[in-house]
Amino acid sequence: MTDTSHNHRLYIETVGCQMNMLDSELVVAALRQEGYELTDSPKKADTILFNTCSVREHAEHKIYSALGRLKYVRRRRPQTVIGVIGCMAQKDQDLIFRRAPHVDLVVGTGQLAEIPRLIREVRARPQRQPQKAVSLDRTSGSVTRIADSFRSYDPLRDPDMRPTPFQAFVRIMIGCDKFCTYCVVPTTRGPEQSRPPSQIAQEVRLLAEQGVREITLLGQTVNSYRHTENGRLYRLSDLLAMIHDTDGIDRIRFVTSYPRDMSDDLLQAVRDLPKVMRYLHVPLQHGCNDVLKRMKRGYTVEQYRDMMHRIRDLIPHCSVSSDFIVGFCGETEQAHEKSMDAVREFRFKNSFIFKYSARSGTRADELFEDDVDDRTKRRRNVEMLELQNQISEEDNAEFIGRRVQVLVEGPSKSAEKAARRQPPPTGRPLSVQLMGRSECDRIVVFDGNPRLVGSTAEIEVSDCTGTTLIGSIVTREVRHGSSELLPILS
Ligand code: 5AD
Ligand code: SF4
Repeated sequence: MTDTSHNHRLYIETVGCQMNMLDSELVVAALRQEGYELTDSPKKADTILFNTCSVREHAEHKIYSALGRLKYVRRRRPQTVIGVIGCMAQKDQDLIFRRAPHVDLVVGTGQLAEIPRLIREVRARPQRQPQKAVSLDRTSGSVTRIADSFRSYDPLRDPDMRPTPFQAFVRIMIGCDKFCTYCVVPTTRGPEQSRPPSQIAQEVRLLAEQGVREITLLGQTVNSYRHTENGRLYRLSDLLAMIHDTDGIDRIRFVTSYPRDMSDDLLQAVRDLPKVMRYLHVPLQHGCNDVLKRMKRGYTVEQYRDMMHRIRDLIPHCSVSSDFIVGFCGETEQAHEKSMDAVREFRFKNSFIFKYSARSGTRADELFEDDVDDRTKRRRNVEMLELQNQISEEDNAEFIGRRVQVLVEGPSKSAEKAARRQPPPTGRPLSVQLMGRSECDRIVVFDGNPRLVGSTAEIEVSDCTGTTLIGSIVTREVRHGSSELLPILS
């Protein structure tokens, strides 16, 4: 039964990856259908949800601290419903109720669709009864039963929760079966399951009708996508071809790729399909074969190098970004130097660099000692970041004097900060600093009218930093009510 007797107010805080952002979008959509309104402050909310991440310990600490602060909110306003959802809920389960007894709801990644019903159950009883819904763990039954318990529910959508109204995430697979020894994802997100291509294509069409122009296909190992429908096997390259001609969609991206599954058919699809961005996020994680082996990544540096050569040979001007872990168990100074060498050699567009964080339930936590002290981890992290930034800045400088196509996403971070400090007097300002992304996923800032947000523009680059290209508009696209596009000189 839908309770719309009065409007509930929902505050939701999301940490972690794009999967979590998408999950929050879907949870909000489901609750909106029950009459919930979103609020940006926990103080104004009667329902507070934390969509959580377990990849590193730090993210979990932050959630437990936030929950601690809510104890007092709960005393003052006993009607408030507090929920922990997502990866930490799946991993910690009853531990959350023990550490934060004022939590009403613990819902894992596979049961997010149950949230509206579970909140109703909490509210229905005068004596609060905590509600828990978590998927089966990976040892609790047949593969199909476990996979079913992690099922997702993608079609529900809430445009207000998207990165922007014209950009959307589309999940094409859930879970992961790779079991890298440091990683909790196979436990928190369950077995790898690809969604049927027809369902994905339909979702992309729906999003395009709602005004979305750029979609990002999501999967933990997105290029491992495989689904057989009507007797035909679809790989990611087939799926890209299938959705490519969707009217209204101008840009398609996909993250995150797994090095060993970077097949030539996929690289050819990226080369040949003009709407697919020339950008690949393929984490190397480490530059030393011994460490890669302990991480059970399933490839050597030499194999990764071969993959990079294939990318460079097949797709001109394709940018590649990576993730690295520093301070993994047994990482010697020489091993760290090999990782630094890999950063030098592969010249990634950017790298996300993480200090190793031991996670209970992972093979690395069972098998190896977390023997690199935190100071050393921090130092190696800083060293690698500095090296990567220097390389990014050198490579960005190559763009000076060249033109790039961007999809204008909104005001730049500094324009947003300035507007918060001193809001514009009345009406909309004529020109602000805007930001967008190039086709190779570089952040570009330039001055322009805020009306350009959601359209494409050509920018001539005149300066750069390690993270940003700086330029000015050469041409922009004008939209006349309909979807008619006309490039004009500005
Ligand atoms: N400690 C540190 N970093 C980790 N990652 C995954 N698990 C851990 C961990 N236990 C990093 C990997 C991955 C990224 C999303 O997070 O680099 O690619
Ligand atoms: Fe984690 Fe490895 Fe799967 Fe990536 S591929 S989600 S690092 S187990």
